[in-house]
Amino acid sequence: MADSPLRTLRDVATLRATTAAARAKGHTVGLVPTMGALHDGHLSLVRAAKQRCDLVIASLFVNPKQFAPNEDFGRYPRDEAGDAAMLAQAGCDLLYAPGAEIMYPEGFATTVEVTDVSRPLEGESRPHFFGGVATVVTKLLLQCLPDCGFFGEKDYQQLLVIKKLARDLDIPTEIVGCPTMRESDGLAMSSRNAYLSPEERRIAARLNLVLHDAIKEARAGEAIAEAEAEAARHLLAAGFSRIDYVAMRDAETLAPISALSRPARIFAAAWLGKTRLIDNMEV
Ligand code: PAJ
Repeated sequence: MADSPLRTLRDVATLRATTAAARAKGHTVGLVPTMGALHDGHLSLVRAAKQRCDLVIASLFVNPKQFAPNEDFGRYPRDEAGDAAMLAQAGCDLLYAPGAEIMYPEGFATTVEVTDVSRPLEGESRPHFFGGVATVVTKLLLQCLPDCGFFGEKDYQQLLVIKKLARDLDIPTEIVGCPTMRESDGLAMSSRNAYLSPEERRIAARLNLVLHDAIKEARAGEAIAEAEAEAARHLLAAGFSRIDYVAMRDAETLAPISALSRPARIFAAAWLGKTRLIDNMEV
């Protein structure tokens, strides 16, 4: 332990033994799954977990199954020592950092597929993505069997997918959603913000402002489709190179809406050069 600020587990048997021992003492277990390159958004999940659970475990695994071949798996930022130091500082009790050979041993052949809420938005832009997320999160939940799992609203559609798989597969874990942490100019914190040049970083801050404006317009009575189209135009004018979607959707089903009669959210995915940013907020 001398060289790491945080006890780090790397295999399922040790993880299971550790969580079983905690439960035997009557302690509750909270799991915070991450892909590392941690920032204060991740640490806010650790803080939420500490409020709810006795033993807080963060996992770190850059999951190859949720990246398409042309995506950034190879260059995704990796710094386990830095992440462990931040987690220890935030009061996390344990790090679970399995290798690929533990998560996907030779012959691995199973995919967890959630239909409906996986299909629109990110599901259309990144068809491989939610199969990879649902498979790895199912494995992490079954490996750890936590009382609660903590996930960010930053990835709101992912949160819905994970809630659905836990319910559908009778995984006895409460899935807890936590609010999006933002930089001082409103940009949602993300490990991928590290890819942005100074000029792109400046433009990136427009994303949350344009979404706020679209919400204001829709609330003032503008047609939903017009508010969405106007937001997309503003993003392109601000310097975004490509828009995957700007869409107001039912907050529970993600179905398209034509009026603000039920809880709704606005979702966007847009490119700045080679970097794809997503954001969403309550309408
Ligand atoms: P990653 O992008 O590392 O995010 C880990 C968790 O942190 C997710 O639940 C995500 O929603 C949350 N998060 C990220 N940015 C946040 C912010 N600004 N505010 C609050 N929470 C934030 O999401 C993943 O990893 C992976 O898909 C994973 C669930 C670990 C499966 O591989």
